[in-house]
Amino acid sequence: MDNIKKLIQQQFTDEHVSSINTTQDNNQNTDQPVSSINKDNKENHQDLASSEKNIEEEVKTPMDNQKTSSTKDTKVKEKMQEPALIFIPPVPTDPQLLELYNTCLTCKACELCDSALNLVFGDGNPNAQLMVIGEAPGADEDEQGRPFVGRAGQLLIKLLNKYGVQREEIFIANILKHRPPNNRNPLSSEISACTPFLRKQIEIIQPKLLITLGNFSSQYILETKTGITKIRGVVQESSYGMVMPTLHPSAIIRGAYPVDLLEKDVVTALQYIGYDVKLED
Ligand code: URA
Repeated sequence: MDNIKKLIQQQFTDEHVSSINTTQDNNQNTDQPVSSINKDNKENHQDLASSEKNIEEEVKTPMDNQKTSSTKDTKVKEKMQEPALIFIPPVPTDPQLLELYNTCLTCKACELCDSALNLVFGDGNPNAQLMVIGEAPGADEDEQGRPFVGRAGQLLIKLLNKYGVQREEIFIANILKHRPPNNRNPLSSEISACTPFLRKQIEIIQPKLLITLGNFSSQYILETKTGITKIRGVVQESSYGMVMPTLHPSAIIRGAYPVDLLEKDVVTALQYIGYDVKLED
């Protein structure tokens, strides 16, 4: 429990380090949305790449005047060689999931595909016993085409890891497969347009248990309007199969609920699918 809490307190600095690209040192404000950091970095990178003069000017600080010219040359070379990170969205290897993925790639059933950078189809083990369903991709997920790679995902995966479950063993998807602009809530029209793909995904994977995170996915799957705090923590039946509704890790990160509740539900879910685990202190 301590490590998880420490992780939340650290505000996920590590994640920022791994997802911020290129000229990270020029960008100290890690609270900035990743997409805008990348944009700024991209611009910085282009500036640097297009003008060696800029680099020379940039390194001409009073301190640099004391350096040898070879130190300067090395610094210039290093700046020019900084690689841009390119994310390659995961493509399913399972033939049925691949077919569904290709259908999703060309889907125009709502307008989110116009504003999103990438399809976030979902990824993981096509034979998973456990399938996690979130709400919708955020900025990090949109950039990488992969669900739950941002702060919320780190918390979720850290919790699963604590009880011996690796990300690769499970399957992770969302109610929506494209990011809503500015992370706004999914519209009911978008949910209606996108969830047939989710149903198909669940039919193909046939997990023993779904973990639904937060109100949107829990209420959709369980066909209820009751809030997550009232329905969480108990494995229950749905037309999609057995479900453990629980709190969204983003709500934990916001400080709305203690992480202990999410951890307790994760452990109950793992026990349900046959893992020999018990809640740790
Ligand atoms: N929140 C979600 O609901 N889904 C993601 O993929 C990431 C954050």
